[in-house]
Amino acid sequence: MERAAPQDLREWLDRVAQADELVVVDAEVDWDQEMAAITYLWTRRPGAPALLFRRVRGYGDRVRCLWNLLGSSVRRMALTLGAAHCASAMELVQYTRDLFRQRIPPVWVPPDRAPVYENRQLGDQVDVLSLPVPKHWPRDGGRYGGTFDVVLTRDPERGWINVGTYRMMVHDRNHVGLYVSPGKDARLHVERAWARGEPAEVVACWGVPPAWLVVSSQGFPKTESELEYIGGVLGRPLELVQGLTTSLPIPARAEVALEGVIRPGATRLEGPFGEFTGYYGRPEDHAFLVEVTGLYSRHQPILTNALMADYPSNEQAMLYAVARSARIWEDLERLGIPGIRGVWAHPAAAGGFGVTVVSLEQRYAGHAPQVLALAAQCPGGAYYTKWIIAVDEDVDPSDMDQVLWALSTRCNPAEDIDVLRQTWSTWLDPTQNPPEKRPYGSKALINACKEHRFLHQFSPRTRLARSVYERVRSRWAELGLGGQPPEVVALEEGR
Ligand SMILES: Cc1cc2nc3c(=O)[nH]c(=O)nc-3n(C[C@H](O)[C@H](O)[C@H](O)COP(=O)(O)O)c2cc1C
Repeated sequence: MERAAPQDLREWLDRVAQADELVVVDAEVDWDQEMAAITYLWTRRPGAPALLFRRVRGYGDRVRCLWNLLGSSVRRMALTLGAAHCASAMELVQYTRDLFRQRIPPVWVPPDRAPVYENRQLGDQVDVLSLPVPKHWPRDGGRYGGTFDVVLTRDPERGWINVGTYRMMVHDRNHVGLYVSPGKDARLHVERAWARGEPAEVVACWGVPPAWLVVSSQGFPKTESELEYIGGVLGRPLELVQGLTTSLPIPARAEVALEGVIRPGATRLEGPFGEFTGYYGRPEDHAFLVEVTGLYSRHQPILTNALMADYPSNEQAMLYAVARSARIWEDLERLGIPGIRGVWAHPAAAGGFGVTVVSLEQRYAGHAPQVLALAAQCPGGAYYTKWIIAVDEDVDPSDMDQVLWALSTRCNPAEDIDVLRQTWSTWLDPTQNPPEKRPYGSKALINACKEHRFLHQFSPRTRLARSVYERVRSRWAELGLGGQPPEVVALEEGR
């Protein structure tokens, strides 16, 4: 397997620039909504390049701001994983599954070999607003850092370290709010530390390469170290340096990192924030209050930012379409489910959270309903998802045209839809009202496979005879049709 994932954000930027996937904005821009607005307008075109702002009002060119790192781009997702050879989305999902199977433990580097320590603010010197932290949307409750970040916390009982992606709202120079959804690992860590009367320590990196998010944004088994999975994605160990004011490690190649503590019971009102759903999430409410004890950065650091919006302007769209699909496929495989041909968490469905399509070769009675129930509730796919759709192996789950065709020709709604209730969801679901009803949700399981009971009697699909298909292919140029004929998978054999 090719192992060439960029190791840090600067290497990632070089590669993306070489591939003509980066646009640099030299004109001064405002941190107050303007950067986010430019990003939103720029990203209305699917696959739009990443955006690097070099000058921010009030901050000169000391700190650069990067937006639309992955957005809706399959190409930049492939570059991030060192998988430029993958031609299709489904190939990329397969490749990511392979990466998730390799775990490489992190290594420690001394502080003088940690770029993140090139600049340090400690104790009273800490000023988070020395960074051009943006406000994204007009109704946001404040300026949000760490929207494209990794956050480290430790399980107070077992000692293992979780890596998650959770946003942070700036309250003042040394306090930030940490928003963690129900059931997510950092929330469980903080609540369990508090139950023991202890503070919880936190490290957050606000400038990171997207490869780290491929892991931090996914649900991995709670008993396994995500630091090792990041090593697996990078193809070499993640470098860590000991924190200066907490007992936690800090990824040494982060652009910007802060460490701090959440004292028992410490919360403050936070939000709202323009969310992955394309709506403001929950109304202003309490979130963990982090007292920042250290702030570190590389020289001329780069802040990474995630715009949350309707597709294709949603930063997590392609990230989730690929990484979440890979996690769900892996979970099904580990459970011993045979015949899975593909999984796709559609990027337009609330940033890959809303719809999961699984393609399978039906091998036994009840196979498709089993796949639906497990894909709906496995660790990699249980959170939020509202629609889980099973299709047969001749349907590409990443091609919505084909999925709609299957829904319209192989699904009998009166028979083929089940609903799960009171499932794992979030305070951010706009359909659960009044907001106090949250965070429970529901899921529709839709079987759009041919009815198994009558598999052999099901009306034959109109397919080209293989012999005719091959003949037409070979005559394509002679026919004067130009280009190459399309690849067709479903063909009639022996006619
Ligand atoms: C760009 C981006 C921003 C995110 N922001 C948040 C957030 O603010 N709070 C949250 O709970 N989850 C957020 N998520 C989703 C979590 O990262 C995801 O649910 C992940 O599984 C959390 O890690 P955990 O499973 O280790 O708890 C975000 C995901 C992405 C890709």
